[in-house]
Amino acid sequence: EKGGWSSFMAKEISEEPDAVANTMRARHHDGQVVIPELEALGDDVLAGIDRITIIACGTAAYAGQVGSYAIEQWARVPVQVELSHEFRYRDPVITPKTLVISISQSGETMDTLMAVKFAREAGATVISVCNTQGATIPRESDAVIYTHAGPEVAVASTKAFVAQITALYLFGLHLARVRGTLSVPEQARQLDELAAIPAKLSKVLESHDSIAQLAKWMADTRAVLFLGRHVGFPIAMEGALKLKELAYIHAEGFAAGELKHGPIALIEPGQPVFVVVPSPRGSDEMHKKVVSNIQEIRARGARVIAIAEQGDAAVLPFADEVIPIPLAAPLFEPLLAVIPLQIFAMELSSAKGLDVDQPRNLAKSVTVE
Ligand code: M6R
Repeated sequence: EKGGWSSFMAKEISEEPDAVANTMRARHHDGQVVIPELEALGDDVLAGIDRITIIACGTAAYAGQVGSYAIEQWARVPVQVELSHEFRYRDPVITPKTLVISISQSGETMDTLMAVKFAREAGATVISVCNTQGATIPRESDAVIYTHAGPEVAVASTKAFVAQITALYLFGLHLARVRGTLSVPEQARQLDELAAIPAKLSKVLESHDSIAQLAKWMADTRAVLFLGRHVGFPIAMEGALKLKELAYIHAEGFAAGELKHGPIALIEPGQPVFVVVPSPRGSDEMHKKVVSNIQEIRARGARVIAIAEQGDAAVLPFADEVIPIPLAAPLFEPLLAVIPLQIFAMELSSAKGLDVDQPRNLAKSVTVE
């Protein structure tokens, strides 16, 4: 039940700190990740893979894209992300050394189910990340890592998204341990970063009212753009997807580096642009590049809403609004930066008087191809 919340989506957003904490529970000890569900698969299988393909649709695919950066960085295996329906119909190279990771909240998405069956028949090992116990996709897989986000009722996926990223990060650390690609202290450091996320998420949730205010002011907006770089890129696309599905507003997410390759032509006075700004404490170069993107679009009249690390003074002179997020290591920022975008889409939808939990034309799980 909704409890005192105005919608299931509002309730589910409030549960995001728990979704991350519960997904981590019982999957680590002494600073190392051990996912018990992967034991049956055997460490030799994971040690022997030479490539990972992540398959999923919609929000789950964006979680996959975020996860791919961490898994590749930590475990030094090439990781590619593909939409299930594209993967399935293009004759991909699959060998016994290919690991396929499927991601699905419902575990019933037909496109992903067909891709899982196809991958296994072609000889790949398939691990599924799923939020629904006993669903069809886990039953068709070699192993399952359940996300423990709890049932997600609203059509728009929110808490499952952060739980999926958490599961993929845990998997990345598990794989790095098995393959010996991260030192023990480094594994512990990354795990500490993840363990600190639930409290930081609660902090981000405190900006709900100011984001709701922003959404009210923007209720007449006809198009919104989202920019991000590195792990911020899939977050930009996820922000755009949320706005499309919930508020029926044309929205597009771009890699910030693509701006000059076309999208900057869309900028006209008053055009709202959300920018996910990477922390200056990660790559200073990347931070500078995104700040200079902000200057470029501001000079052309864009209305810039920056999601930036608390205290990031470099964005202040150029942003119309800044939504601060707590300090986190660069790979962990997406878990925090996505929340304001989810809240914004939800609040804009309700400001327009739309059905937040049941947007038009959509089903919670897409069980046809
Ligand atoms: O149940 P799944 O995770 O497989 O669903 C995948 C997509 O259909 C889903 O994430 C969809 O994009 C959401 N409505 C987005 O909010």
